[in-house]
Amino acid sequence: MTNPSVRAADEAKAQDGSDPRCVPIKLGAPIPVGDEIAYPRYSEEEHEVWRTLYARQEKLLPGRAAGEFLTGLGALDLDRERIPALADVSRKLHAGTGWRIARTPGLLDARDFFAHLAQRIFPCTDYVRGRSELDYTPAPDCFHDIFGHTPMIMHPRFANFYQKIGRAALNCRDAIVEESLTRIYWFTVEFGLVRNPEGLRIYGNGIISSYAETQFSLTSQARKRPFIADEVARQPYDIWHLQGDLFVVGSFEVLESSFDDWSARNGLA
Ligand SMILES: [Fe+2]
Repeated sequence: MTNPSVRAADEAKAQDGSDPRCVPIKLGAPIPVGDEIAYPRYSEEEHEVWRTLYARQEKLLPGRAAGEFLTGLGALDLDRERIPALADVSRKLHAGTGWRIARTPGLLDARDFFAHLAQRIFPCTDYVRGRSELDYTPAPDCFHDIFGHTPMIMHPRFANFYQKIGRAALNCRDAIVEESLTRIYWFTVEFGLVRNPEGLRIYGNGIISSYAETQFSLTSQARKRPFIADEVARQPYDIWHLQGDLFVVGSFEVLESSFDDWSARNGLA
């Protein structure tokens, strides 16, 4: 997989090279994992940005976020007041689903990123966006990565699915299949919806870490379609606007088995 835009909606929105945070990094050496990750010396301003983002998103979650996301968030018990230590989050993930966190210096080269996923390691940033970027940042940051991504990695079936995306990407040699896989990543990991017993809910972290996307995604302005892997693979996406097409999975068991089937048929399993 050569397209780094697969990583995240926000990250994909700025590939013009003007922001060094958006230039994919090709690793020349291993990055620290789990307890190897040192806790940075954050300023009070940086903690305040985290606190503001957390409080604002948390208010939107009831009635919108998937039960599976909320269960993961609760189990992680993230600090609302101060930026959590990646080593601590990694320990909780490992206890939950066997995943760990690696500290990435920024947006990773796609192959490096997927090679980590394939080993059940989530590359995660530890810096936070500036106060002027509360609503939008083109670059990955730890609010998107920790608050947005890690709760779903606590779900056993989603955790398996996420690893399988990494493995499939590493096995991919065909540009068309690669684009299809990118679309599946986009409409699940970043912009997925799930039908909970209580109704339609958000699990995609591109939505759940964004104030505007969270509010927009469940309105009638966003078209919802059932998740059928072949249809998702054919659906182009628009990185510049709020997502007008979204796909709904019935459960994460179905998501994982549908992806297994799609990967096998496309020679990626
Ligand atoms: Fe992301």
